[in-house]
Amino acid sequence: MVASSEKNTVESILHEDRVFPPAADFSNNAHIKSLQDYEQLYEKAKSDPETFWAELAEQELHWFQKWDQVLDWKPPFAKWFVNGKINMSYNCLDRHLTTWRRNKAAIIWEGEPGDSRTLTYGELHREVCQFANVLKDMGVEKGDRVGIYMPMVPEAAIAMLACTRIGAPHSVVFGGFSAEALRDRLEDAEAKVVVTADGGFRKDKIVPLKSEVDKALENGASSVQKVIVIQRTKQDITMVSGRDYWWHDLQKDASPKCDAEVMDSEDPLFILYTSGSTGKPKGVVHTTGGYNLYTHMTTKWIFDLKDNDVYWCTADVGWITGHSYIVYGPLSNGATSLMYEGVPRPSNPGCFWDVVEKYGVNVFYTAPTAIRAFIKMGEELPQARDLSSLRLLGTVGEPINPEAWIWYHRVIGGEKCPIVDTWWQTETGGVMITPLPGATPTQPGSATRPFPGIIADVVDQNGNAVPDNTGGYLVIKHPWPSMLRTVYNNPERFQKTYWDPIPEVEGKPVYFAGDSARRDEKGYFWIMGRVDDVMNVSGHRLGSMELESALVSHPAVAEASVVGVPHEIKGEDIYAFVTLEDHYSPSNELNKELKQHVVSEIGAIARPGTIQFAEALPKTRSGKIVRRFLRQIAADQDIVGDKSTVVDPSVLDKLREKV
Ligand code: WT7
Repeated sequence: MVASSEKNTVESILHEDRVFPPAADFSNNAHIKSLQDYEQLYEKAKSDPETFWAELAEQELHWFQKWDQVLDWKPPFAKWFVNGKINMSYNCLDRHLTTWRRNKAAIIWEGEPGDSRTLTYGELHREVCQFANVLKDMGVEKGDRVGIYMPMVPEAAIAMLACTRIGAPHSVVFGGFSAEALRDRLEDAEAKVVVTADGGFRKDKIVPLKSEVDKALENGASSVQKVIVIQRTKQDITMVSGRDYWWHDLQKDASPKCDAEVMDSEDPLFILYTSGSTGKPKGVVHTTGGYNLYTHMTTKWIFDLKDNDVYWCTADVGWITGHSYIVYGPLSNGATSLMYEGVPRPSNPGCFWDVVEKYGVNVFYTAPTAIRAFIKMGEELPQARDLSSLRLLGTVGEPINPEAWIWYHRVIGGEKCPIVDTWWQTETGGVMITPLPGATPTQPGSATRPFPGIIADVVDQNGNAVPDNTGGYLVIKHPWPSMLRTVYNNPERFQKTYWDPIPEVEGKPVYFAGDSARRDEKGYFWIMGRVDDVMNVSGHRLGSMELESALVSHPAVAEASVVGVPHEIKGEDIYAFVTLEDHYSPSNELNKELKQHVVSEIGAIARPGTIQFAEALPKTRSGKIVRRFLRQIAADQDIVGDKSTVVDPSVLDKLREKV
């Protein structure tokens, strides 16, 4: 049974006929050159997934010791490359040092104020080894968790790689999260050390990070023993003696020699928190061998990376996209990964195009929300720069509307670059449904077909496949190497969230993604959006419950119900209905205060667009708030559906009047 879905998203209204086949010269030079080649790979993987993955694992990665079983699948728990021994940082660094790539740029970094730095594989390796030794000196041992709360500076990648080098799972927390959100995550992960910076540059402002860490540690997170601080902004901060250390002090004395720890394929690599429809964010656990292989292969085939490419993914390392497609996938391939600290901002709205021109970026991967923002700003910005180096474009994070797709294709891609619309999730570790750019004809709004090895389907709530072009639940029917292994410290929640919603089909459990989709007669998937109470605001995932708990933690709030409303640029915006405690009354000041309260509880990405004060909320007889009607009211739509489920339907009319 699919629990909380009340969204009317299962019927798609999108009918898109335009088809864009890859250009012949692109296909001829691509890793996967034709639809036929893709189909062959797909069939091979489908008929014998274990041999398919084992061959690639053998060819593409370094193993200290080979596995003795490819897949051990005891639903919902999977083990890939059982007893294989491997190290992620070894595959991302050491193995390139014995080739010409030793002196190739691994990371090209550009800071928001315009400073920049390039690290070759050799240099990155030294820095990672040094920092790995620093972590060891701070008492971090194999298996200990390390929190990383950083701006987009090379040290973020260095810290991540250093953790994987010594076998300490990292938990990166996006720098835009507040002290409260940081504390919750550090506590759940029981982090021993936190790596942070004094602050970061973001949107022409200096944002504090270290002071947020201080607040988080004052209010809990007692497992944290040491804090390592990078000096980025040079703002004033307090350093607690015996707890806080400067990165540069420790790093300069550290030895650049540190052997990569021999890790088991199934040792945890990292934990990354993401929002669900209920409760607190979940710690998604990824392990080593399978994740390394899957991010490696998807990076290679989807971004079609060549040795002289400059590849740029605009995500932040605080999200899974940054983990898989800024750091691990590209570096495992020996690619040049560009890291940019800035985002489009008042002082330079066209900064992305400056970076493309400055570094001659060839492959560019961003989010639909960014594209929509660029459409608003006008074509003049990109047209004033030389974007001719671009040869491939990608999008991720939310459905892309055809208008934005076409604009991206025309204005940024000069009508010559294929666009890969990549569907995946924090949980999947890597891209699951996507075009392969030299092979798959693309269509605006479709993520097209599953990556080889991925058995995706659209089913009804009983697990039965639905006919072509009919909406249903998107599921994955066979384990894949980079699937999440569990929810940290909560295997029950893992089972309940992903494996229970759809019943087994022919004795086979299926992974429930939480999205609705339809598949057309060509086998193309059209993702329609979440079917649970998870919102997608500018590509960021936020749970209704999280936002509601943040609101009710304010003394004025009695009850809160939060829904998503369509938004031109953000895709979805946050709309909150709030009832107040007796001695409080609605006012503009209180409205502002509540928005600010949510920002301090979660972070700026969670600031509600609208808070509507209400006298009462629509409830069922059992007291459950009916979000379906609230969604319609927030979107200013007619109220459709059976109002008799609501105890007092007049509540709905009152809410409407006030919109
Ligand atoms: C949710 C996962 C995966 C990296 C970024 C987001 C939505 C993601 C697409 C796409 C339509 C998409 C889904 C998914 N989503 N990519 N190409 N087309 N929707 O990771 O924060 O875990 O969010 O993002 O709803 O479930 P995430």
